[in-house]
Amino acid sequence: MNTSTQVRIELASGLLAVTLARPDKKNALTTQMYQALVEAFERASADPSIRVVLLDADGADFCAGNDIADFVAMARSAQPLDNSDVFRWLRVLASFDKPLVAAVRGRAVGIGTTLLLHCDLVYVAEDARFSTPFVDLALVPEAASSLLLPARIGHVRAFALFALGETLDGRAAVDFGLANAALPAGQVTPRARAAALTLAGKPAQAIQATKKLMRDHGRMLGVIDAEARVFVERLMSPEAQTAFQAFVTRRAPGA
Ligand code: COA
Repeated sequence: MNTSTQVRIELASGLLAVTLARPDKKNALTTQMYQALVEAFERASADPSIRVVLLDADGADFCAGNDIADFVAMARSAQPLDNSDVFRWLRVLASFDKPLVAAVRGRAVGIGTTLLLHCDLVYVAEDARFSTPFVDLALVPEAASSLLLPARIGHVRAFALFALGETLDGRAAVDFGLANAALPAGQVTPRARAAALTLAGKPAQAIQATKKLMRDHGRMLGVIDAEARVFVERLMSPEAQTAFQAFVTRRAPGA
């Protein structure tokens, strides 16, 4: 598939639908996909006819996290990585000023879960599965999740997700305050779209002002920068290389 089609962008009725469209790879995010996401979110911020963004995904799974082959390539790159496309998108996401609604079915791994902390309404499938196994990959949390996840669900639950690699299903995500509703999978996108269209009909400036009051963008950007410095260090580490290799060759780490 052409990389530019791995993120589908559709605008109608004030709603910009941004759909991850790489289902054969469980919507794992590549550099090109981050570039498309940056472009879509910058366009959404700048265009007054866009009132709300809906983040959705094709196929059975929402997002298997960052593409691991890209992690390997990043670790070998001579470019400064804390300004790479993934961190650029995280900064755009954390400072996005319009309402953002997400529809999640299936797996949401790593950034597939942490990006949801920046969404304003989140609808999930009852059997969706959320995980942030950063430590298993010898990495650390990103997307300001080291601040936002414990603030949302409590330190010990967040630590179990980050460090034990525990998984939450859709109902637990609602119980923990990560999502608004857990629904049968077929109802997730319609419900999220209906909520997004309702938001699109509300007074736009009042919604943006409300979001601004509720989210401390400056603080989140500071945390993203601090996380990025450690993340890049970890990405280059031998233990991370071993963990990526284990995924690529389908071996258990250490086997
Ligand atoms: N990066 C690159 N490719 C990925 C990927 C990722 N993060 N996640 C899945 N894929 C690819 C697989 O390599 C496979 O490709 P192939 O068909 O060419 O072999 C395809 O997507 C399907 O994945 P598969 O592992 O066969 O599906 P599954 O249902 O058995 O398992 C997951 C699904 C999400 C549990 C598993 O793919 C996984 O653990 N992925 C890595 C998640 C991760 O650690 N992400 C980074 C977090 S920081």
